[in-house]
Amino acid sequence: MMFCPLCASSEFLCKHYKSCKQTAGLPRRLSLGLEESGKLWETLNTLSLYSNPELSVIGNVNSLDLEDAKTEKRTINCLVETMVTSKKIVLAKKLNGEPKESDFKIIEEELPALKDGEILVEAVWLSVDPYQRIVESRNPDFPVGKLVCSTLGWRTKSVVDVNKPGDARLPKPYLLPDFKGLPASLGVGFLGMPGNTAYFGFLEICKPKPGEVVVVTGAAGAVGSIVGQIAKIKGCKVIGFAGTDDKVKWLLEELGFDAAYNYKTKDIVEALEEAAPEGVDCYFDNVGGSLSIAVTKKMKLFGRISVCGSISSYNSGSLPGGLELDNGMTSGLMASNNWCSGQKRCRGEDNIRMDLKEIRTNEGDWIQPDHGRDRNTAYFGFLEICKPKPGEVVVVTGAAGAVGSIVGQIAKIKGCKVIGFAGTDDKVKWLLEELGFDAAYNYKTKDIVEALEEAAPEGVDCYFDNVGGSLSIAVTKKMKLFGRISVCGSISSYNSGSLPGGSVYESSTLQQYILANQLTIQRFRVGQWNDQWFDGLKQLVQWTKEGKLKYYETVTEGFENTVKAFIGMLRGENMGKAVVKV
Ligand SMILES: NC(=O)c1ccc[n+]([C@@H]2O[C@H](COP(=O)([O-])OP(=O)(O)OC[C@H]3O[C@@H](n4cnc5c(N)ncnc54)[C@H](OP(=O)(O)O)[C@@H]3O)[C@@H](O)[C@H]2O)c1
Repeated sequence: MMFCPLCASSEFLCKHYKSCKQTAGLPRRLSLGLEESGKLWETLNTLSLYSNPELSVIGNVNSLDLEDAKTEKRTINCLVETMVTSKKIVLAKKLNGEPKESDFKIIEEELPALKDGEILVEAVWLSVDPYQRIVESRNPDFPVGKLVCSTLGWRTKSVVDVNKPGDARLPKPYLLPDFKGLPASLGVGFLGMPGNTAYFGFLEICKPKPGEVVVVTGAAGAVGSIVGQIAKIKGCKVIGFAGTDDKVKWLLEELGFDAAYNYKTKDIVEALEEAAPEGVDCYFDNVGGSLSIAVTKKMKLFGRISVCGSISSYNSGSLPGGLELDNGMTSGLMASNNWCSGQKRCRGEDNIRMDLKEIRTNEGDWIQPDHGRDRNTAYFGFLEICKPKPGEVVVVTGAAGAVGSIVGQIAKIKGCKVIGFAGTDDKVKWLLEELGFDAAYNYKTKDIVEALEEAAPEGVDCYFDNVGGSLSIAVTKKMKLFGRISVCGSISSYNSGSLPGGSVYESSTLQQYILANQLTIQRFRVGQWNDQWFDGLKQLVQWTKEGKLKYYETVTEGFENTVKAFIGMLRGENMGKAVVKV
């Protein structure tokens, strides 16, 4: 509860605070005339009896000043500062597995006085990306009373320096643009970060064409429900997967999806066979896991996969260093490390621009013309997809083979640190002693995780994947942020025949499908389109006003219920965007 410092009435109902009614916040500095100053002093004394922690006088008001002022009948200015406190939600302990309410706690914090350029904002709606109302401002571009969207954590109030570069992955705090009468709460969802995630993440990566088949997982969520509708606007056939029958009904009956399934009760492979017998052109992947494996296997030639998130593995806790991975790992790793992979067809030999004379093959011969295919595979597959930079760490599997041995050497020519894996000690010796690899291991006798820890403790920038399987899982786990993986082959699984559904090894065999269908799989962060942020929002507003896009919000009331809402969202209790009304 806050009080007017003049008359102690609560919540700005008194006559002194007309201006505060507009801002719904307590001003922290006031200039007062003599009469009011006198009252103020009395009021402060009264309030201090009740030990109101919200108030403190930091200016030049004291009884002496007041007495002097009365005698001299002059007006004095006094400075009153109310101490602004904010509540914020922090982790009480490290998360392990599915988050519990007891993992979080609410604490109070005191906020500093505003400096020039800063604004004080008070949360109105919270998400993982809260937006607030400005209650005090020392920045003319951010006037009091306006709504602002920014990423500040779950807190009731914050002091924000709007010019300070924040999280580069998201835009700086911005005033909510004109939503043309649509509710302001959409600023944290449908017309905010999730909206732009859907808009750019789908259109820029999947590049859908009319008539193409699009699959969306997490289809009834904040991002997924928008992706499906945009795909419909673009003339695609849309198939959604969601976790309850009600969500499926909503997708089919309200949002106009062509097919939708409850992935908890329907066999996914069967569903895809039914709805996309010819295969899938675009997959917008919100969840990772076994759903993503099934969809990836069903991709058509030149299919595009936009890896947005991997919610199925967010709560799996710390992953074991070994290779017993859940099926979510492939997408999960892409999600966290932002890698992209794909396979390019080799071009004709005419395109060779590098002098390969120095490059030796496994057999120790100088390359002959009939090695053209291998060297083109190595040349283009490595340089065009991995785009290595001097000093970067490159891992090559199948390193002593025809392609791998060339890739490793090209990486050395490009000034990289090169680590190779091969299957005999002789090959390892050759890689180290003849080809100048910086490190090489026999993957049959050396623990792969240990080898990577030893040779690439900081992580791997580029991975040229010739083999797939457990080796590839281990290397993928070790990739650095913005790492690049060129999926060239998956020899480890060529002879495995049909694999058991849901096997822990399945994610490692996706390379086969990526390779065979020349898929483009790309991870993104919505912040990469920060410079076009408002173009995205403008288009979304327009489509909504034209009745082409529908939205739904699952609203939780009360700041103290934020964690509950968060856990509920992870468990699938939300439809559309989960928001908290503070
Ligand atoms: N790349 C980016 O820049 C970016 C930006 C925003 C969001 N994201 C990611 O995009 C995804 C969707 O985010 P959102 O905000 O739109 O969330 P959301 O879909 O509104 O909410 C999460 C939903 O995920 C589903 N889910 C939970 N566990 C699952 C599992 N094991 N398998 C399948 N589905 C599961 C639940 O719905 P069901 O009932 O259907 O299970 C739940 O409602 C998340 O992975 C998020 O991290 C990425």
